[in-house]
Amino acid sequence: MRLEPPASLVDWGVLVAVAVLLATGVASLFAATPRLAWIYGVHAVAGIGLPVLLFWKLRRVRGRLRRGNWSAGTVASVSALVLTLAALATGLYWALGSGFSVGPTTGLTVHAVLGLLVVVPLLVHLAVRFRTPRTDVDAARRAAVGYSVVAAVGLAGFDARKRLSAAFGTLGRFTGSKHVGGEGNEFPETSWVADDPDPIDESAWTLTVEGAVERHLTYGYGDVAPDDTDEALLDCTSGWYATREWRGVRTGRLLDDAGVADDAGWVTYESVTGYRWTLPLAEARGALLATHVGGERLTHGHGFPLRLVAPGRRGFQWVKWVRRIEVRTTPDYGQWVAIFTSGFD
Ligand code: HEM
Repeated sequence: MRLEPPASLVDWGVLVAVAVLLATGVASLFAATPRLAWIYGVHAVAGIGLPVLLFWKLRRVRGRLRRGNWSAGTVASVSALVLTLAALATGLYWALGSGFSVGPTTGLTVHAVLGLLVVVPLLVHLAVRFRTPRTDVDAARRAAVGYSVVAAVGLAGFDARKRLSAAFGTLGRFTGSKHVGGEGNEFPETSWVADDPDPIDESAWTLTVEGAVERHLTYGYGDVAPDDTDEALLDCTSGWYATREWRGVRTGRLLDDAGVADDAGWVTYESVTGYRWTLPLAEARGALLATHVGGERLTHGHGFPLRLVAPGRRGFQWVKWVRRIEVRTTPDYGQWVAIFTSGFD
């Protein structure tokens, strides 16, 4: 029986698989709770099944590549292929191994960047070579068989990958993050994009609570009573996780002091760098603003004097060096710009 779908449906299969990989890859940046583990499962199955489609595709076009009279379109096609293969290799190597770095950048970040870069040559490739697929009954039957093979290879490969990781002792969390042991402040001091403020003088630092509240409040370091604790897992998108006991003040206490307006729905946490992230009000009430981790005072690199602890969120949402809390009646769409621009002078 012929397993390979018709040529145009191999091409469409590649496009759909890469689109799924990009969508689930980007979604993974926000998925930290086990109920969202399926996002990573779909990513892995699409990633491990993709080489089957690429094999069929390359078998068909290899003659054209060898002939050598490359157009700009061929360069885009080959670039898309090379980047996709590089993303595949780094994704699998990360998932199978105990984690690797390229200079200061973790292998998982390198993988994500390679994956995102695929978009550029892929769009050029589509603009040059777009074809509508065959839709007759024979094509549909062959595509169903071919796509089933791809899915079966993806599922079996993902299962085998997890077994191998377990055998090597390198199995990470479902997010792909690897465990970091140690105590207290002993975990990587990662920051999203460019945040790198000078150490903060606790006697000059203040925390303000403002926005949709009855009273605007200002606290000094000594006014923030670190009476609340939480054990929470910090899972960074760069590929590591650490579980620690965090101590500080629950945001709800500060909000009660300030008196939240009836129509308030969100709370924005802003760093001294201008970096900010927003939580829905109910979630924010329970979220800790930590002064200590594992019994130690937070170090500068981990956000001293105050860092948001947001269980179930990825690390980049755990705002460091918090200096302002704003209670809002509307979501804060500007945060999507702030997280990329904060830290640049
Ligand atoms: C063409 C693009 C891409 C390809 C071919 C690809 C392929 C892969 C493969 C094969 C794995 C290993 C899966 C496993 O065994 O669990 C993987 C893991 C991963 N990828 Fe991608 N990927 C792509 C794009 C992206 C992007 C854009 C992101 C993020 C922005 C991303 C994030 C991840 C993460 C977080 C993991 C770790 C999950 C785990 O270990 O189970 N990927 N990828």
